[in-house]
Amino acid sequence: MSPRARTVVLISGRGSNMSALVEAARSPDFAAEIVLVLSDEPGAPGLAIAREAGVAAEAIDFRAYPGKAAFEAALEARLRAERAEIVCLAGFMRVLSPSFVERWKGRILNIHPSLLPNLRGLNTHERALRQGVAEHGCTVHFVTAELDAGPIIAQARVPVLPGDDAEALAARVLREEHRIYPAALNAVARSLTSANVREARLNPR
Ligand code: GRF
Repeated sequence: MSPRARTVVLISGRGSNMSALVEAARSPDFAAEIVLVLSDEPGAPGLAIAREAGVAAEAIDFRAYPGKAAFEAALEARLRAERAEIVCLAGFMRVLSPSFVERWKGRILNIHPSLLPNLRGLNTHERALRQGVAEHGCTVHFVTAELDAGPIIAQARVPVLPGDDAEALAARVLREEHRIYPAALNAVARSLTSANVREARLNPR
């Protein structure tokens, strides 16, 4: 494990969470460094945003592969080549296979726009409004084979206000996403790097 955990961010779209991670990782005290941004969509606006921020960014176009296994093999090869230690999903719209997720167990994170376990899956803001809940929010969790069901690392709550539509609610949640995702990555990276330092002390080469 590197002194700062080498982290790759996977996106499919606008990349605002990715930007929040990149900004946070500029601080020398941050326990992770963002070494690469990858998108399964070559047209993802987040790719250009990452490059403007000085971070390498590439597409691995899902359509260029005969199927999910071949796409995931290319993704895995790129992660290995980059010596990635942590993977952050940030608006990455593909469900990764159980074998992929298992290989990255404890080192693959996702941000989800609801208070899990409530509202797994898509369209969470519309569904929160339909449920009539008083509170909504976001969750950072470890990715496991079951969608949006892995161990929770951090959550933030926001009120649902009278007159909210899905857009207003999404914006309120997104502000919290940008706060808790960097904090969660920092905590996970710190625990992985310090566990590694402990192990190196116990088993000196
Ligand atoms: C965020 O709401 C995130 O919680 C969800 O997808 C959206 C991605 O937005 N998984 P962005 O690409 O990070 O701006």
